[in-house]
Amino acid sequence: MKNVLILGASGAIAQHTIEKLQEDDNIYLTLFARSSNKIKPFENSHTQIVEGDVLNKKDLDEVLKGQDIVYANLSGPMENLAKTIVEEMEETHVNRLVFVTSLGIYNEIPGKFGEWNNRMIGSALKTYRKAADIIEASNLDYTIVRPAWLQNEDEVDYETTQKGEDFKGTEVSRKSVGAYIADIIQHPEKDSKASVGVNKPGTEGDKPSFY
Ligand SMILES: NC(=O)c1ccc[n+]([C@@H]2O[C@H](COP(=O)([O-])OP(=O)(O)OC[C@H]3O[C@@H](n4cnc5c(N)ncnc54)[C@H](OP(=O)(O)O)[C@@H]3O)[C@@H](O)[C@H]2O)c1
Repeated sequence: MKNVLILGASGAIAQHTIEKLQEDDNIYLTLFARSSNKIKPFENSHTQIVEGDVLNKKDLDEVLKGQDIVYANLSGPMENLAKTIVEEMEETHVNRLVFVTSLGIYNEIPGKFGEWNNRMIGSALKTYRKAADIIEASNLDYTIVRPAWLQNEDEVDYETTQKGEDFKGTEVSRKSVGAYIADIIQHPEKDSKASVGVNKPGTEGDKPSFY
């Protein structure tokens, strides 16, 4: 049995990953969230729910014990969140981390879409970049996930790019990102020590189609 901890389990992408992982009898899920309201329906014999705040070291330390993989699907002060998670994972000897950030953190988006993205979210990207830097400088075995602009189509259709390559496309469904993350959790040797862009193929353009 593999023990998987999801931090920020009420988050939108996390809901899709949880649904996918609950199909796998070899996974025991711990869903960690500030409020359990949204995730109560997921509770079953293979899934427990723990209420807590990632920035509360005592909460995090307690829930990390015995975990094999941590998937962080968070928003807010990403630098502080990453720092706390890395420190507590190193202290509790949990080694595998999947952490969601954003497209654009390395200025890796070419052309007009890159310029548009910087105008729209450039200032918010700074905290995501700092979070990625903290994780990349750690001893953890990590996958940093950089989704394109998120939409809620009921589809799984994605391709990936690695750090150092130009970002492809403009958008991707949350369901696709959830499926990619579930795949990494089920095959943790994939995209290890990597920072990975996730986009829907064929969505190149000056901005996402819904803008
Ligand atoms: N929108 C886009 O186009 C886009 C593109 C690329 C990347 N992203 C980023 O990708 C990430 C995941 O996206 P998403 O749609 O799944 O985000 P989301 O629905 O906003 O989920 C983020 C979750 O983080 C939780 N959280 C924040 N601080 C926490 C803490 N201290 N302790 C415990 N939980 C905490 C929130 O919990 P509460 O419910 O308690 O607040 C929320 O459930 C976000 O950072 C998002 O900004 C977005």
